[in-house]
Amino acid sequence: MKKNLNQLKLQGIMQINNENYRSIWLDSSCGNMNDQAVKIIDQTLLPHRFEIRRLSTLQEMVTAIMTMQVRGAPLIGAAAAYGVALAMQEDASNIHLDYTAKTLLASRPTAVNLRWAVQRMLSHLQALPPEQRVATAWAEAALICNEDVALNQAIAQRGLTLLQALSARHQNRTSTNTLNILTHCNAGWLATVDWGTALAPIYAAFEAGITLHVWVDETRPRNQGASLTAWELRQHGIAHTVITDNAGGHLMQLGQVDMVIVGADRVTKNGDVCNKIGTYLKALAAFDNHIPFYVAAPSPSIDWNITHGHEIEIEARSEDEVAYITGRLADGTLASVNVLPTGSRAANPAFDITPARLVTGIITERGVCAPSDLATLFPEN
Ligand code: MRU
Repeated sequence: MKKNLNQLKLQGIMQINNENYRSIWLDSSCGNMNDQAVKIIDQTLLPHRFEIRRLSTLQEMVTAIMTMQVRGAPLIGAAAAYGVALAMQEDASNIHLDYTAKTLLASRPTAVNLRWAVQRMLSHLQALPPEQRVATAWAEAALICNEDVALNQAIAQRGLTLLQALSARHQNRTSTNTLNILTHCNAGWLATVDWGTALAPIYAAFEAGITLHVWVDETRPRNQGASLTAWELRQHGIAHTVITDNAGGHLMQLGQVDMVIVGADRVTKNGDVCNKIGTYLKALAAFDNHIPFYVAAPSPSIDWNITHGHEIEIEARSEDEVAYITGRLADGTLASVNVLPTGSRAANPAFDITPARLVTGIITERGVCAPSDLATLFPEN
């Protein structure tokens, strides 16, 4: 049975096998403030295995971020905040606080949410004596998580208004009432604490009764689209089809894509968008085919310190992610196979920049705006 947005705001949108989850949460079995742990869903095993990991040290959190057991810009911000809290219960000294910040900042460089969360934690903790840091760190990390959910719910609401308008226009122009939306990578609830960014308006539209279908780019090399977005949409019962990364332009030429919505790892002051590698090519194809290209981004994903996308450090990941593909064998075991000839090298830039001129609009918690109007929407920056 479909639920209205207010019901969903109370219970959350993330449902796995009909149970409500968040993608990161405090382990409720710990009673003592100095002996807490955090739980995450291990995203490297999805969609084949659903396993929860318990992280009780800074190092375990850093490893989870670097190996992408947790990933997605807002989620790695929340994970970094909990990483600071875990570090403070190990050692709340100034030296360890400094080491913690440096270690977390180096774990994944591109998504600005991680830096935003670490800086926010530092600004609260540096002013306190060490004995007060643990409690404050846990409270602030929990606040960051709750705020992330609220920001994404607001994006769902803003995006719903946009999808309702596009759906109405689409129904007037065509014989079908299905709105076909293309998305890249995973910007759903798994990439955030709950709701997601690019998928949040899709969930809201589905619950509001809009008939939609999602084209899911597989998103090589790690296949976050095929493994995570498709799995999320299935959990939710939303019609979707996984396509190879090269199929989107062709489908656009055939009139089978009505709009594109992607997430962002960082949006610059002028509205350039850094997102998963391949996003730029989708934006070019959408532009050439006059298809609206929207980016859903909460305010912690906006970097007000830089103006142009080329200033962003693009994470270079291991060649192995290109060489190996992981999947499930017929007997159910997980396996990795190498698809490269022996001796061939691979390059693996993880993100690219979509220039603001290719972006139709940015869906933020405050509203939908043209990239050039971002500063008007957030005048305090
Ligand atoms: O490398 P990943 O899986 O962390 O990359 C994730 C993305 O590129 C998402 O599109 C982006 O973080 C937006 S998440 C709401």
